[in-house]
Amino acid sequence: MLKGVSLGPGDPELVTIKAKKAIEMCDEVIVPGRLAESIVKEFRDNVRVVEFPMGNADGVVETLAEELAYRCISEDIAFCVLGDVAFFSTFQDLAGAVRKKNPDVVVEMVPGVPSFTAVFSRLGMFVDSSFRVRSALNQDEGFEVVLKATKPLEISEELRNRGFRSIQVERMFMEGEFVGRPREKASYFTMVVGWK
Ligand SMILES: C[S@@+](CC[C@H](N)C(=O)[O-])C[C@H]1O[C@@H](n2cnc3c(N)ncnc32)[C@H](O)[C@@H]1O
Repeated sequence: MLKGVSLGPGDPELVTIKAKKAIEMCDEVIVPGRLAESIVKEFRDNVRVVEFPMGNADGVVETLAEELAYRCISEDIAFCVLGDVAFFSTFQDLAGAVRKKNPDVVVEMVPGVPSFTAVFSRLGMFVDSSFRVRSALNQDEGFEVVLKATKPLEISEELRNRGFRSIQVERMFMEGEFVGRPREKASYFTMVVGWK
């Protein structure tokens, strides 16, 4: 299995218990730089650093994917990144390349604390209205998350009118989790995720 593991924004105390377990138990742990290495070293001694230099990152991804596409069938390998692994992360390219070379590899992601939520606690600010996260390199809005989505179908229709596809995610990581086609009604612990 190939595991994309989130390390949080920089403080090892913000690494989740699930991420810590993955780091301790995987056969090998790979990190994309020294900052990530310093966090992982809090939990295990042997860490492999693979740098992804600007301009030659594609070559490094290809070479590493070639290796992992076969090793991850019999071994569990963790690739650990800062923040949350789902956002603007090197793991996206690596996982895509590994899957392309060997679709039998199981890929899992361990979520973590992203910099763009942690920053509000750091600043002592509360977010109680819609907010936008974007990269300085790309202004396109490709995703929208709707909280308090107790009427998922209505929300998904509104999203569709603005060109989004969408999915209902209810009681995520809780008992009774539901992920699927938006329904008419849902509990308070529901989000609708839209993407273009
Ligand atoms: C390639 S993105 C990766 C985002 C990461 N996956 C996450 O969930 O936070 C890297 C950018 O995230 C922001 N970032 C990440 N960690 C940060 C930190 N500890 N302090 C300030 N900005 C941070 C910076 O804008 C940085 O350029």
